[in-house]
Order: sequence, then structure tokens, then C-alpha cells
Amino acid sequence: MKVIEVGAENRGLIKKIFNNEVESFGVMGGADMWMIMSFIRYGKLYVLLDENNELLSVAQFQGVLGKKEVFLYGFSTSLKERGKGYGKILLEECHNKLKMLEIEKIYLTVDPENIQAINMYEKAGYLIEELQKDEYGTGIDRYLMIKKLL
Ligand SMILES: CC(C)(COP(=O)(O)OP(=O)(O)OC[C@H]1O[C@@H](n2cnc3c(N)ncnc32)[C@H](O)[C@@H]1OP(=O)(O)O)[C@@H](O)C(=O)NCCC(=O)NCCS
Repeated sequence: MKVIEVGAENRGLIKKIFNNEVESFGVMGGADMWMIMSFIRYGKLYVLLDENNELLSVAQFQGVLGKKEVFLYGFSTSLKERGKGYGKILLEECHNKLKMLEIEKIYLTVDPENIQAINMYEKAGYLIEELQKDEYGTGIDRYLMIKKLL
């Protein structure tokens, strides 16, 4: 297993990442190709791969302008690989890589009913900062969660 930063030239892997977005998030909330390329070129896109270079988990980060902070736009594990500890491994390695870049804080938002994700983030040291009512439209609430890295 290894964690790598995805480069723009890695088109085979990018296609797998796109397919995983559709599988994990459906029509709402997942990243399209425009966003994926933007994370790669102007943010950070990290993945956990198995020994056959198959995709296990994906993490997509955007930078916050003028600050040493990032927003974790998307995080997912391939459907058939969930519950095996891969998300935890990738998240921890992302923290290490972002610390090396002197990033001080990570923001993310999560569906308040997404217990698996909230558990994972809380175990990794993220705190619920506030409930963002109707953040993505009427009835689509989010928890804003924050982790301090440095
Ligand atoms: C949330 C998600 C990324 C977790 O990835 P994963 O690889 O399955 O997670 P792991 O196996 O590493 O588990 C990490 C922690 O998550 C929590 N967790 C995972 N599956 C869980 C479940 N079925 N029920 C409750 N908690 C769960 C646990 O706290 C677990 O830690 P533990 O094993 O020490 O108890 C995965 O379920 C997923 O891709 N979901 C769909 C996309 C999504 O909702 N992403 C989050 C968007 S904000």
C-alpha cells in the first residue's frame, strides 16, 4: 500500500478517481473532471493505492487564499473497500504531508447524518465547529469540522 500525490499526467488513475466519485457520491457532492483537475493542478489530490495500484481511498484538498489552511472538499473509500481501515490510513498520511507544507488548519463539511465519516474525523482529531443550516440548499445541513495541524 502507498499514498501518492496524483499528477495531471496520470490519466488512468484520474479516470478511476472520477468513477469512484460517481459511485461514492452519486449526482450531488462528488467532483466532476473539472474539479478533479483543479484539485490536481491548484490544490492537492492524494490517493491510497494497493500493491496492484488499485484505488482504495481518495482525498481532495483546496487551498484557502492567503492562509496556511486547506478545505478537504472530498474524501472517500472505494465502495467494496470500506470498513477496512483504509480511510484512516489515508487521512493520517494526508495530515503528515500537509504538515510538511506547513499547513496549519484543515476545514471540511459533512452531512450530520453521516455517522461513519463523523466518527472517522473525530477519531482523527477533527472537532465539530458549527452546524451550517441549509448550507448547500434548503434542508441540506452540514457540520463544519476543523482540525488544527500545527
Ligand atoms: C467515510 C468513509 C470515507 C470511511 O472510510 P473507510 O475506509 O471505510 O474508513 P475506515 O475503515 O478507515 O474507518 C475509519 C473510522 O471510520 C469510522 N467508521 C468506518 N465505518 C464505520 C461504520 N460502518 N459505522 C460507524 N463508524 C464507522 C470508525 O470510527 C473507523 O475507525 P475504527 O475502525 O477505529 O472504529 C467511507 O465510508 C466512504 O467513502 N463513505 C462515502 C463517502 C463519504 O461519505 N465521504 C465523507 C464525505 S465528508
